[in-house]
Amino acid sequence: MVTYRQANAGDYLEIAKLHVKSWQQNYRGDFSDHFLDTEATAEREGVWQNRLNNPMPNQFCWVAEQEGEICGFACAFLEDDAEHGTLLDNLHVLGTTKGKGIGRQLMRLVAQEVLKNDPGGKLYLWVLKNNISAMAFYERLGGFNCETVAGNDIGDKEVRKCRIVWNNLKKLI
Ligand SMILES: CC(C)(COP(=O)(O)OP(=O)(O)OC[C@H]1O[C@@H](n2cnc3c(N)ncnc32)[C@H](O)[C@@H]1OP(=O)(O)O)[C@@H](O)C(=O)NCCC(=O)NCCS
Repeated sequence: MVTYRQANAGDYLEIAKLHVKSWQQNYRGDFSDHFLDTEATAEREGVWQNRLNNPMPNQFCWVAEQEGEICGFACAFLEDDAEHGTLLDNLHVLGTTKGKGIGRQLMRLVAQEVLKNDPGGKLYLWVLKNNISAMAFYERLGGFNCETVAGNDIGDKEVRKCRIVWNNLKKLI
């Protein structure tokens, strides 16, 4: 059975590990081999240690667990952008547990949190343009691509990324 709970400070290493594994499986080519294989672990451990030990007041993070192991997570920042609303950064589900509704349930939990804060709240995220599978998932959940831009905020390569938005979060619940 999969259960869901808010993340706590003790989860940072397990989340970082899942995050890196997911990047290695899904982002190779967009992120360099050098970054994925030698730098990503330290980079993600730093990010998650900081996020979970010193959470921003507008941050919330959910994990999915199966048999005591974290198999998915979603992290979001309320009212991050004046036009697009809450930023979802990031959503990942362990490869072996994909396709079982965990991603959809994490998105539902995020949407509930946004609407609790603001009944008219909006949600957005950035996804790599080449991440066809995640794009299809977001489309299935009612998100739409409102712009594609170049960026190099993570790693050592420039990537093309799409901003996926939801203006009506009730669709996610
Ligand atoms: C994208 C991701 C989060 C989806 O999570 P998931 O648990 O596998 O997805 P779910 O099982 O909840 O699927 C929900 C719905 O989306 C659909 N869906 C999921 N993946 C899909 C795909 N690749 N193509 C088409 N539809 C898809 C499912 O069929 C399901 O539809 P239904 O409920 O109407 O039957 C997960 O596959 C993942 O972690 N991918 C790798 C990391 C990643 O790319 N994260 C996004 C970063 S921006």
